[in-house]
Amino acid sequence: MVDSDNAQDNVQDGVQDDASATAQGGASRSPSDGMPLWKGRFEDTPDGALQAFGASLPVDRRLWRQDVAGSAAHARMLAAQGVISSQDADRIVEGLDVIAGRIEAGIFAFDVADEDIHMSIERALTELVGDAGGRLHTARSRNDQVATDTRLYAKQEATALAQRLLDARSTLVGLAQDNATVVMPGYTHLQKAQPVLFAHHLLAYYWMLARDFTRMLAARESADASPLGAAALAGTGHPIDRRQTARALGFARVIPNSLDAVSDRDFLLDLVYACTVAMTHLSRLCEELILWSSDEFGFVTLSDRYSTGSSIMPQKKNPDFAELVRGKTGRVVGDLVGLLTVLKGLPLAYNKDLQEDKEGAFDAIDTLSACLAAVTGMLATMQVNAPAMLGGAQGGFMAATDLADILAERGLPFREAHELVGRLVLAAEKAGKTLQQLSLDEVRAVSQAFDEADLEVLRIEAVVARRTSEGGTAPAQVADQLALAVQALVDDAARL
Ligand code: ARG
Repeated sequence: MVDSDNAQDNVQDGVQDDASATAQGGASRSPSDGMPLWKGRFEDTPDGALQAFGASLPVDRRLWRQDVAGSAAHARMLAAQGVISSQDADRIVEGLDVIAGRIEAGIFAFDVADEDIHMSIERALTELVGDAGGRLHTARSRNDQVATDTRLYAKQEATALAQRLLDARSTLVGLAQDNATVVMPGYTHLQKAQPVLFAHHLLAYYWMLARDFTRMLAARESADASPLGAAALAGTGHPIDRRQTARALGFARVIPNSLDAVSDRDFLLDLVYACTVAMTHLSRLCEELILWSSDEFGFVTLSDRYSTGSSIMPQKKNPDFAELVRGKTGRVVGDLVGLLTVLKGLPLAYNKDLQEDKEGAFDAIDTLSACLAAVTGMLATMQVNAPAMLGGAQGGFMAATDLADILAERGLPFREAHELVGRLVLAAEKAGKTLQQLSLDEVRAVSQAFDEADLEVLRIEAVVARRTSEGGTAPAQVADQLALAVQALVDDAARL
């Protein structure tokens, strides 16, 4: 036992044997002699290899901030409710501060014998402040503790990812503004279909990421409920105040059912799902960047900073990072399926299977975060080759429908107009020309029904300008859409 004066000293002096405890492994560590904190009913420790098998510390140590915050809030609440003394609560909070400082500074000795971050911190705390540390776990279980930590972390990361999504969206908006008049071919079946504004195409991705932002905030909202005080599964007889800890930790509400509180991982599913959908969108965008940066398309040139070379082919410039984003989407889909599969057969309440919830979820968060940074950088630095896009839009006879429409408007039966334009396309194809390259004589050689004004209809910018329906690709419509996108950026920044 450590008396309170010594405990106080320990808080100030630090734990002198941290380093040696790590060097020697948990077995020699005092005061527990390598026995886990649940050692009471055990005569032996798990086999060394199994200890590592059962441990989650390498994965969950990133939850240390949340664990420290949760413990401090719990200790304060216990003192306020008279369950522990306020001196004990003070010692606990001071000890937690010391531990947090050490972890932050990278000098905290994580012990391989510790099963998880909760055990690590509690053990270090008890070493620092003695008995007070031993009182911290009153009316609490690691089951509600881990759920609390993970929810706090999920909220924090959902906010950070939402911010990154906003950054990507504002880059898309900037690119659309800078290239407001650039025309490119629009595709269906990856065959040229109708010309569109490049800005229109970019804004399609903008709206995908805008929905991802909303999904991310919805995931944050579902994490925003406190499980703390559910204890192991059934609540506790101690006179705790769950609302106080929820408030102190910034949770919007308390989970009303203790069994649900320790078993629910829907909030992680929501977060990983939001990550998965966002990754799917980034993957589609990257697939286009890969195509567009190929010699065949030549629509964009990725910056050297976002490309790599080949070790054998000196001429190569590869869109590796776009490919990696596309590839990493696979693992995030795997993270979602993995978590769903972990959860699907679990009886209430806590089962150790739930320890498997974190690795995939953290991976999904880290991967999306890195991919958003990569894609945002790629977009911000790439060169847009407007002439290549326009050239591509002039191929494929994409003005054909418009020309047939004009003839029909002039009173020609549409069937006949369709046939005339078909013959014009055939003539252009035989001459090796685009429709725009045909002269008036060449056009009238096909049919006297065409007149000079039809050459204007064939202009690809004119084709774009005719798509004036709401949400269409005509410049005025795209300008309206851009205004909506800019407004949504402002509104969403306020929701962060
Ligand atoms: N490391 C555990 C996890 O991540 C903490 C909860 C352990 N609870 C238990 N009863 N074994 O799920």
